[in-house]
Amino acid sequence: MAQQFQDRFERKFYYLRLSVTDVCNFKCTYCLPDGYQPSGQRNSSFITLPEIKRVVHAFANCGTSKVRITGGEPTLRKDFTDIIDVVAQTPGIEKVATTTNGYRMEKQVGEWREAGLTHINVSVDSLDPRMFHQITGQNRFHQVMAGIDRAFEVGYQQVKVNVVLMKHLNHQELPQFLQWIKQRPIQLRFIELMQTGEMDDLFNQHHVSGTSIRNFLIANGWILKARGHNDGPAQVFVHADYQGEIGLIMPYEKHFCESCNRLRISAMGKLHLCLFGEEGVELRDLMQADEQQYALIQRIQSHLQTKSVSHFLHDGNTGMTPHLASIGG
Ligand code: 5AD
Ligand code: SF4
Repeated sequence: MAQQFQDRFERKFYYLRLSVTDVCNFKCTYCLPDGYQPSGQRNSSFITLPEIKRVVHAFANCGTSKVRITGGEPTLRKDFTDIIDVVAQTPGIEKVATTTNGYRMEKQVGEWREAGLTHINVSVDSLDPRMFHQITGQNRFHQVMAGIDRAFEVGYQQVKVNVVLMKHLNHQELPQFLQWIKQRPIQLRFIELMQTGEMDDLFNQHHVSGTSIRNFLIANGWILKARGHNDGPAQVFVHADYQGEIGLIMPYEKHFCESCNRLRISAMGKLHLCLFGEEGVELRDLMQADEQQYALIQRIQSHLQTKSVSHFLHDGNTGMTPHLASIGG
């Protein structure tokens, strides 16, 4: 193994988030309220299978053991299953995850599993089909739920479900969500709404801290679980009466960034050190041939030395990120 990726704050990077497309067919109010708008670039310019293979090899060579395939909506890529396969075949990669809106899950999740997908996150922002439609712009609640059922049928032991927490929209649904996971091995992850560049009033109207949920959980016998080295930043709670678990992702909390263990590659092949605040570094020219692996690793390593200690969200500084579909959540 080449030298492990590490920054000036001695954070090591075990986890790569790889965006494979910016395109999405949903219109989540907090992400793409007007739907996906092509920015002049043609779809064919997203990183290709051979490029993906090389960049994942470079990361695996430097200590990465987990890759999450994201977007946009990654499953809209026709070669999505091949992407899973290529990532899963990479020596050193133990976990292959994806984050999906669930649109294609019912039909394809069996195929994804066979190709080597080990973990699935799917977004379900409300258990009320009408509210789901209102938030996502797609009347697909039942289709997504059928996808989750199917995932269990094809053999997944656990499915993670993302809920972006929003005051007045889904914040009051906690009892329904808890009931839902009582008998199901679902890790339900409440994510605090994050402010991005293209958002105006939405953040001020709907942002709510996860603290009240955390207080409720602790008061009701839920217990915080210890965190593994390539886990994400969620605080995960378990309860003896529930098969499911609750995760809280609170990026506005102090010290959130201290446990950062992830790097990002955008669908255009740039390296991003943080979800927020920088333009990214071009890597694509070094994904063109196997002989470039050393140079690719060197460029990543040297850029890593500029990673900041924390994001600046607290100051209302959303950096350059217009919405999370552009950089893969
Ligand atoms: N705030 C919080 N989470 C977001 N996501 C996208 N945009 C935001 C935002 N502004 C997350 C959601 C979704 C995943 C794809 O990205 O959790 O499930
Ligand atoms: Fe699409 Fe995901 Fe953004 Fe919703 S959050 S619009 S599903 S990319």
